[in-house]
Amino acid sequence: MIGTDLHTAANYLRQGEVVAIPTETVYGLAGNALDPVAVSKIFEVKNRPRFDPLIVHCAGAAQFARYARELPDAVQLLSQKYIPGPLTFLLPKSALVPDIVTAGSQRVALRVPNHPLARKLLHALPFPLAAPSANPFGYISPTTAQHVDDQLGGRLPYILDGGPCSIGVESTILGFEDGMPVVYRKGGLAIEEIEAVIGKVEVRAHSSSNPNAPGMLKSHYAPRARLILGKLEELLRAYEGEQVGIISFQRSYDQLAADRQLVLSPTGDFAEAARRLFAGMRQLDQLGLSLILAELLPEEGLGRAINDRLRRAAA
Ligand code: TXA
Ligand code: MG
Repeated sequence: MIGTDLHTAANYLRQGEVVAIPTETVYGLAGNALDPVAVSKIFEVKNRPRFDPLIVHCAGAAQFARYARELPDAVQLLSQKYIPGPLTFLLPKSALVPDIVTAGSQRVALRVPNHPLARKLLHALPFPLAAPSANPFGYISPTTAQHVDDQLGGRLPYILDGGPCSIGVESTILGFEDGMPVVYRKGGLAIEEIEAVIGKVEVRAHSSSNPNAPGMLKSHYAPRARLILGKLEELLRAYEGEQVGIISFQRSYDQLAADRQLVLSPTGDFAEAARRLFAGMRQLDQLGLSLILAELLPEEGLGRAINDRLRRAAA
């Protein structure tokens, strides 16, 4: 059932059930992070392999000290500016965090979502919420309550509807190795914004076999239709006569019906492009096309997170 009632959602969560919740990035599949049985239900609902750890969502940055053993100065600095927000920290975990949450890793991913309903919910609960994106494993992440209902509705007692996600791509994940900051997933907070506060960061978000972030699989966020990246003019010519759709950054193409074109932002606004990406991919995927042709955006700001999703969708 989809609804906007915070108390219903909170009650299910207190009983150890799994509930879909809105965040500013994508919808999450939430359960009591301190209850291993509730967390195991998350893995079941999502059909997610147990080796892929979950992010722990907290009511505020003040709670990080409970679930992490160490808080580097960089975390304090970034928290002041960007928490709540689309930034997840990977930190040495405290004993309060069950092993099933981190898939046995000694590091835990912590974040504070910047969504009014999610924040109210987290403040009302005496525990933090473990939550992966609320999609079946490997598919495109949901950015509306309806997306969640379409695929997982039958397996959930409640979907808390907080409207369409304002950011639209998952959080940026930042950890530390020998004290040096490393970005493991490009996401809703641009790397430039992070570097403005703590200086140069290393980006290690390309690998398909990254032992520090086992979930960052090469093939992910994938529509059912095959997705091919390149120059749209050339691709449209090469695949003329096939059932194609396109994902373009700014311009549309006269030779193709409008409903087959996902134009991310006619004005070239990265934030708008990110907000529209996943919903648009789902819409295209529902047309039963044989191919989706897509172009990459400039490699800057949120363009980098969008390109990362497009590359994985194409893999
Ligand atoms: O924006 C987001 O981060 C959304 C919303 C719901 O908060 N959540 C999300 O969760 O994208 P998920 O599970 O779809 O992606 C989390 C990523 C996975 O690639 C996982 O492997 C990685 O974070 N991760 C989580 N905990 C980790 C840990 N302890 N060590 C390494 N990687 C971790
Ligand atoms: Mg996910």
